[in-house]
Amino acid sequence: MSLLGEPFTAKCLKSGTTVEVGGTQSLLQALLDAGVPMDYSCEGGVCGTCVVPLVSGEVEHLDEFLMDDEKEHSIITCVSRGIGEIELDV
Ligand code: FES
Repeated sequence: MSLLGEPFTAKCLKSGTTVEVGGTQSLLQALLDAGVPMDYSCEGGVCGTCVVPLVSGEVEHLDEFLMDDEKEHSIITCVSRGIGEIELDV
């Protein structure tokens, strides 16, 4: 498996789950593995299906879907990554 980025932590406030995202997996994959219900389609950062509300934390946005102002409170989970720890409303 290839390295996608640095590991980070995603706290899921609605489901009460804390997900450790490894360097070789996407946030989307880690959420699915943890049993968090997620919709997704392209897995390439273009369709926007996998978006979730961002409550707090710093994000490296790697998608081609969100407008700049949307990036403050949303994250495209198939490609974008948190830095350190982020909080999601899922
Ligand atoms: S699944 Fe299409 S943007 Fe993530």
